[in-house]
Amino acid sequence: MQRWSIDPNDPNWRQSPVAAAVCEALLAGNLVGVPTETVYGLAADATNGRACAAIYAAKGRPRFNPLISHLESLDAARRHGVFDARAHALAQAFWPGPLTLVVPKAAGSPICDLVTAGLDTVALRVPAAPVMRFLAERTGRPLAAPSANLSGRISATTADDVIRDLGDAVAFVIDAGPCPIGIESTIVGLAGAEPVLLRPGGIAREAIERVLGRPLAAAQTEQADAPQAPGMLTSHYAPNATVRLAATEVASGEALLAFGPTPPAGVERAVATVNLSPTGDLAEAAATLFSALRRLDASGAATICVQPIPDGGLGEAINDRLRRAAAPRHGC
Ligand code: TXA
Ligand code: MG
Repeated sequence: MQRWSIDPNDPNWRQSPVAAAVCEALLAGNLVGVPTETVYGLAADATNGRACAAIYAAKGRPRFNPLISHLESLDAARRHGVFDARAHALAQAFWPGPLTLVVPKAAGSPICDLVTAGLDTVALRVPAAPVMRFLAERTGRPLAAPSANLSGRISATTADDVIRDLGDAVAFVIDAGPCPIGIESTIVGLAGAEPVLLRPGGIAREAIERVLGRPLAAAQTEQADAPQAPGMLTSHYAPNATVRLAATEVASGEALLAFGPTPPAGVERAVATVNLSPTGDLAEAAATLFSALRRLDASGAATICVQPIPDGGLGEAINDRLRRAAAPRHGC
């Protein structure tokens, strides 16, 4: 494994010989840890079944849980998915950016069945962060990339997180510093008549509904064997500690995930504390959420208690992740 540190604001990394080596590694079927604006991805050539099988093996990810394919542009994405007027409107409004569209798979798309888990739909995203777009364009391949963490565990928002979870499985980890948004993309399902919010994420529901001119439907109730967005298994993002939500008081021995200016009762009892945003800013809270969970988990506390977080805007995605972190575990 080679760590390649780049300054995302200095475009010279594109000319580095390491950039060429990373592309060769991807074309040879290897895995690469790649920064995006949301979380780090574990990337592979989406047209190479062996490479994609290695993603599932490295993460310990169930095979029924399909992957997002990343492209450099809407034009490139249209080779793999069927874009109706709604999909075009959303792509034009939010790409490049933290939005994933689930659309019917285009006839002739070489994205392999392992990536779509055999579905006739495909999840496509054009990320804002330049590295994934560069790699997709330079290799000429869609890049399948789930979040670069062990399946069911806390997502990776730094290169160190990736190396800790998956260092043995990757040829390179590209280090561009912490992810600015810090929470995964919003996933909108456009395969049926009604647009569906499959996963709240880095773009707030309200912004998407404004572009669509209608509300997003809720994803169907989850079933572990055939979830509508299978990554939405109830237990996910799980630390080793148990997670207690909506805490207004800290019990002795607990670690505290705080939010806002007002500490909960018993704050002095916390064995470790991270405040997601002392000013109560939801974007700041999203950006620090996963690293905060990892840090509090490392304190060894048996329980992490979480102060209430408002549900509007990015709060919907933050509370979604926290509910899943708190859910009973089913061994994945
Ligand atoms: O921000 C992100 O989306 C990050 C970065 C790396 O791009 N990726 C990410 O991937 O979060 P992952 O694998 O952790 O989550 C992908 C989600 C899963 O919930 C999966 O079930 C859903 O996308 N998905 C993929 N293809 C789908 C499809 N055809 N239909 C419904 N859901 C799909
Ligand atoms: Mg994930």
